[in-house]
This record gives sequence, structure tokens and C-alpha cells, in this order.
Amino acid sequence: MSALAQRPENPVVGLAIPHESAVLHVTGAALYTEDLAGRTKDVLYAHPVQVPHAHARVTALRVTPALAVPGVVRVLTGADVPGVNDGGVKHDEPLFPDEVMFHGHAVCWVLAGTPEAARLGAAAVEVDVEPLPSVVTLAEAIAAGSFQGATPRVARGDVEAALAAAAHVFSGVLEFAGQEHFYLETQCALAHVDESGQIFVQSSTQHPSETQEIVAHVLGRSSHEVTVQCLRMGGGFGGKEMQPHGFAAVAALGATLTGRPVLVRLTRTQDLTMTGKRHGFHVDWRVGFDTDGRLAALAATLTADGGWSLDLSEPVLARALCHVDNAYWLPHVRLDGRIARTHKTSNTAFRGFGGPQGMLVIEDILGRCAPLLGVDAAELRRRNFYQEGQSTPYGQPVRHPQRLHRLWQQVLDTGDVAARQQRIAAFNEAHPHTKRALALTPVKFGISFNFTAFNQAGALVHVYKDGSVLVNHGGTEMGQGLHTKMLQVAATTLGVPLARVRLAPTRTDKVPNTSATAASSGADLNGGAVKNACAQIRDRLTAVAGTVLGADAADVRIVDGVARRIGAADGIAWDELVRAAYFQRVQLFAAGFYRTEGLHWDASVMQGSPFKYFAYGVAAAEVEVDGFTGAYRTRRVDIVHDVGDSLSPLIDVGQIEGGFVQGAGWLTLEDLRWDTGGPARGRLSTQGASTYKLPSFSDMPEVFHVTLLTDAAEDGAVYGSKAVGEPPLMLAFSVREALRQAAAAFGPAGISVDLASPATPEAVYWAVEQARNAGRPGTPSATFGGGPAGATLADGRVNGARVDGVARMQNVRPESGRPDEVRHG
Ligand code: MTE
Ligand code: MOS
Repeated sequence: MSALAQRPENPVVGLAIPHESAVLHVTGAALYTEDLAGRTKDVLYAHPVQVPHAHARVTALRVTPALAVPGVVRVLTGADVPGVNDGGVKHDEPLFPDEVMFHGHAVCWVLAGTPEAARLGAAAVEVDVEPLPSVVTLAEAIAAGSFQGATPRVARGDVEAALAAAAHVFSGVLEFAGQEHFYLETQCALAHVDESGQIFVQSSTQHPSETQEIVAHVLGRSSHEVTVQCLRMGGGFGGKEMQPHGFAAVAALGATLTGRPVLVRLTRTQDLTMTGKRHGFHVDWRVGFDTDGRLAALAATLTADGGWSLDLSEPVLARALCHVDNAYWLPHVRLDGRIARTHKTSNTAFRGFGGPQGMLVIEDILGRCAPLLGVDAAELRRRNFYQEGQSTPYGQPVRHPQRLHRLWQQVLDTGDVAARQQRIAAFNEAHPHTKRALALTPVKFGISFNFTAFNQAGALVHVYKDGSVLVNHGGTEMGQGLHTKMLQVAATTLGVPLARVRLAPTRTDKVPNTSATAASSGADLNGGAVKNACAQIRDRLTAVAGTVLGADAADVRIVDGVARRIGAADGIAWDELVRAAYFQRVQLFAAGFYRTEGLHWDASVMQGSPFKYFAYGVAAAEVEVDGFTGAYRTRRVDIVHDVGDSLSPLIDVGQIEGGFVQGAGWLTLEDLRWDTGGPARGRLSTQGASTYKLPSFSDMPEVFHVTLLTDAAEDGAVYGSKAVGEPPLMLAFSVREALRQAAAAFGPAGISVDLASPATPEAVYWAVEQARNAGRPGTPSATFGGGPAGATLADGRVNGARVDGVARMQNVRPESGRPDEVRHG
């Protein structure tokens, strides 16, 4: 086992301990960025002036009426920007725009002594606009050729020849929705300026270093004049990887111009209407299978709805293309990606970062094709799993593919699947209006940033004279338990009890040039850096202990806060050892660094080995669907997931449960809608929790078993662990596939059922109708389409048409009475 993965005696990693802030979270004592404003004198509150047009040119902006509102101190406009008027890294995101690019785009910000005065001031600003033509839906963008950014391709083999030779060929279209992050804490930044003009920004950001860079370039200053601190976030989920920068820059600009602290804290509606979401996609695909149901070839074009600017759309799309294979060997494959430009908020990172979107393509294909191939869907999946020696479409060997088989079997066994399938069949036999189904789906998710340079991290660890330990690292805490894990790593490496170690908030003046806490790699990267810093200190201390104990330093171990020669009963206590080291003038602090080894990625050809390893998991979900309404419930979920040798099992189980439920929310409940016509065209119509249905306790699986795979230590990561933050989200495909199968159970055996995504009760109802229609006399034995059979869809194709033995499938949302509105993200 590698030195990185090897655990010492009595490690603190692996202990099932609660989140370090759990008590603070549940008692309300935990401080978030906005709470700091309440403890700060003379704060100014910022309010955006949002323009209600999808696309328009600003012809005049009159701020004087706002200045007449009592309490208003200043209005920030583009003319105030001393540096670069841009809130992103692609230079396509004017911070104070003169062209409105989405409904609700902020063109200026009002600062006032109270939030209410700022709101009234913003309402008083007069904006004249000249409306411009807009592209709102993905379908409109594709029709208009409205694209932006790179058009990557991942390819291997000869797809056309393999499709021509395949025993079965199907083709279809899949459209699926995006997702709102709905972190509990909305975007927030609080900026101060000190006596020498240095800027200090407290920001709810997953990427403090990038927030720092953007604040610096907006202000025309250097990075060393700007410090960004993140205490913690009330959820990020990827929505605070890129989106916080502009808000931090507005706060910082306001603070430099007024000399007063400035708070930007979005209301929920502002957050929903101004910040980007998960990308919805449109996918066109053709797939070939051999006579055994093995995947022979796949060709697909994935179009991501990027929104108005690029933001993280290119890396999200790259990850999507790298995850279309999911757990399956695709001998011949060609995947094309492109990014639509639409007049909507700029879509961004969201847990899984394109991975869920890519995997949904293949899971949807397998779910729809299984009945047409006459193969049980679970069997079809298992049959196509990667085997040892095979590699991904982008050329990375798949290490440990046998884990997929192991996980699958464990879910079958512990989930009692065979017996339950029999009970489900008996239940369905006896209940004409209610049907149940159980589906299994796998996950294989690549861990590391695709972009190799991001796979580095730093830490700064101090041991004080009294023996207490303070850890700084570059990662941010958003609820995922990173800080808990870092405390455990530090205690393990130093050999001290957990209580001796404390964590300081993430700050750019402690650890510079950090990567976003993202791609699930926070613990891998920062854990490596914390371990490295602690190991330096530990080695210096064991040398000191050697002199005190009269032993060779190599024979000294520090375990549970006592340094001993191996095998000896007596030793020297940690506090005493630290004091001795101080008097010997031994350095008691260290900077740690970690870079992930062995990565390689050539983005120009989309080939390489971008991932350190793969995280695996399998889920089985059982649902029950009501045939009258399409309403459903999730009766039971069994998950076995591979987190390597867990750093913190309670945290990991929580991540798996939370990720799964968030994934199920995306796939079944959460339904983003925009007005696509009329005077409010482009307006997000789901502007609150009243219209945007999030999973709640009642949507939890009634029985929910989460098990960590054992004997799974990962040699390439800190203390043998694996990343856990994102992969479990994709286990929720099991719920969607179970819903598809339950809907199919309303019709004759062997029919393929299409299901819109999200599979809301309404969508499930149409899937049930599709199945029932297939059994009615006079209708084709197999129809395809999420809507009433035979409906003509927006693009003129007819649901259920079969072209030359090729099944044309549609998975677009039926909008009865509004056939021009095709589902988009
Ligand atoms: N868990 C909680 N509670 N809150 C969050 O915001 N974000 C997710 C995941 N789990 C998130 C979460 C996302 S998108 C990522 S990339 C990882 O946590 C990031 O943290 P990690 O790298 O430390 O796992
Ligand atoms: Mo997570 S989407 O990588 O922040």
C-alpha cells in the first residue's frame, strides 16, 4: 500500500463522528456570512436593479431618482468600475451590462443604510431599454444555431460501420431539465476596506481564490491586496463555484467607493432569477446492440443549455461527454458536444458537474431499449458492465471494474431482490390500478478535475507551544463535512486526539492559489496537503522524541498523544514533546502541498487519463405508481457505495443519502419552468419553493438502506479513502428507471415506455397512458413518446414512428394544448 494510503496505528480517520459543526447547525449558533453583517457597524446593503426583459439594449439609465430616496447612499454603475467590468473568467460576463441578457439581469446596484431603503432605491432607478429578439428554449437555440464555446468530440472506433453491422439499431431524442441549487443560504458577500485600502471580503464561495482574482480585476488591483474568507456555506452544490464572484465584486466595489462595509445578500427570488442552475440537455442518439444485447456502438450529440454566458459550461460539457459510458463498455463511440446560448441565467456547476447529464443518456437508452431487445433491464445493464482490461471512450483504463459486479451482487443479496421481484409481480397481478417496480442502476464516476492543473492543494498547520493544533487548508466547508475529515486527517498524521486539533476558516492569505472545493475532490486534495504538512511536523517531533527517549527517530511513533519507542510502555506526552521541541528551536508549523500524481488530459482531442480513480456504487429502488393520477412513492432503496476506506463513515453515509435524494429531486420532482411567450417571455415562472417542488421528508424512501463497501481501500488517495460528494447523486437513476418499469406494467409485456425528465406525477401519468394505449386494440404494439400516442411533436416527427426498422423514440415533455413548447432545461 502507498505511503499516502497507509493508515497508522489507532487512526482517528475511520471513526464515525458527527459533523464538526453539527451542534452549531442545529442550535442556530453557526455563523454564516450574513450573520457577520449584524456584528458590523455602518453596513450598507446592496440591492440589484433587475430588468424584466429576456434580451434588450439599455438605452438610458437614470439613477438620480434613487439618490432622492431616504437612506440611499450611492448607486453603483459600470462607470464606477476602475478595473475590468466583468464578473467571470471568460470575459463574457459584464458585471454592469449595457445589454440585458436574461430576464432579471441586474444592470446596477443601489447601496443604502437599510435593506428596505436599498430596495426602494432600486425601484426608483429608471432604465430605458430597446427589446431585442431572444432565444429562450434549447429547441429555439438549436433551430437558430445559437451556440457558444467549444464543440468537443470524444470518439473511438468506427461508429458507422459498427451501427451498420449491429443486430439491433435504435435512435431517439432525449431532453431533460436542469435543476435549481436551492442551497439554504443564498449568495452572500460582505466587503471591508482597511486603512491602507486593502480589501477583505467574506464570501459564501466554494472558490475563494477565484473570488479573490475577480474582485482584484474588477477593482484593478493585485491579488495581494484582496483577501477572501469563507467561514462556511449553507450549501453550495456547485452553485457557489463560479457564481459568487460577481456579487463579491459588487460588495468590494461598494466598500472601496464608500469606505463602508457593504453586504450583498440575495433574497430567494433574486437568487432564483439571477443565478445559474444545472444545465438541461437535448440529446440525439443512435445505438446499436449485438444479438446478445451487448452495446456495439453509440453515436450521440449532446447540447447543453449554457444560458447567456459560458461560465463553467465547457468543463461541465466535457465531464458529461466523459460520463456517457457510465459503467458500460462502448466499443465504438462518437459523442459530440455543443453549448447553446440562450437568454437565461448562466448555467453552471451542480453536483456531478455534467456527469449526471452524460450518464442519464445511457441509462435512458438502456431503460428504453431493454424491452425491445427482450432482455430484462437489470440484466441488460449487468451484461454491459466494464470488464478488466477495457478502457473508457476517452482512453483511460477502467481500474477495478470487478467492484461493479461486487456491488451489484451485494445489492441483489442484501436487498433481497429476487424474492421482492416475485412479490412485486404478484402484487401487480392483483392490482390493475396500482403497479410496483424495482430497478437497479450502477454508477461509475471519475474523480479529479478534468483540467489537470486544478488537482493541487495547500495547507498550513500550526502547532502552538501548549500542544494545541490549528489547521488551515484550501478547501471550503459547505455542509459536506470536509472540515470534519481534515480534523481527522490532521489528528491521525500527528498522532494526537481529535480534541487537540481545531480548524480555521478558509482564507486566501493563509493558503494561496487554491482550486475550487469541487469535483468531490476536496478531501483527496486538501487531505493530501494537510497530511503532508502534519507529517513534516511529526517527523521533526519524532526526532526530538528520539533524543529525549534515547531512541532512533525512525523507531518512534506518536499514537494517541504519546511518543514512544516501538514496543515500549513509557513515552513522552505530546504537550511535553511540543514544549521540548520549542526550546530546542524546532519549527512547529509547516506548509503542506499535494498534487495528484499520474494524471494526463489532452482537451484538444478529449483523450487521456484525467481521473485518479473511479468511485462506484449501485442502487436498487422500488416504487409504486397510481394509475389514475401518476402519483408515486418510493417504497424502498438499497444502496451499496464505494468510498474506499472511509475517512468518516457518518459523514459519508450522510453524503450518500443527501446526494441520492437530491438526484431523485432532479429526476422526479424539480421542474424549472420559464415563460416562453407573451410579455413575460424569458421569465422564470418557478420563483419560489411554492412552485418549485423540492424533495422533503415525505419524499424520502420509506425504507432506506445505505451500506459502505468493505475491503475497498484506494491506494491512490489519502488514507485509502475515496471521494463521496457527488457520485451518489447519480444512484437516483434507479428511481427513474423503476418509475418507467412501473408505468410499463400497466401495459402488455415487452413494451418500451418513454418517460420525461423530471418524471413528475404528470409525466408518469403520460407514461402509464402510453403503456395502456399499447395494450388497446387498434393501436400499435409499441409506441414511443412521452405524450398521448400519435401526438405530433414540435419538430414534426410523430411519436411512435418506426423508420426502416429503427425505432424513433421521443422523450420530450407533452404540453397538451401547447404543442410548440418542448421541454428544455
Ligand atoms: N453536501 C452538502 N451538505 N452541501 C453541499 O453544498 N456539495 C456537493 C457535495 N456535497 C455539497 C455537499 C458538491 S457539488 C461537491 S463537488 C462536494 O460536496 C464538494 O465537497 P468535497 O469535495 O469535500 O466532497
Ligand atoms: Mo461540485 S458541482 O463539483 O461543486
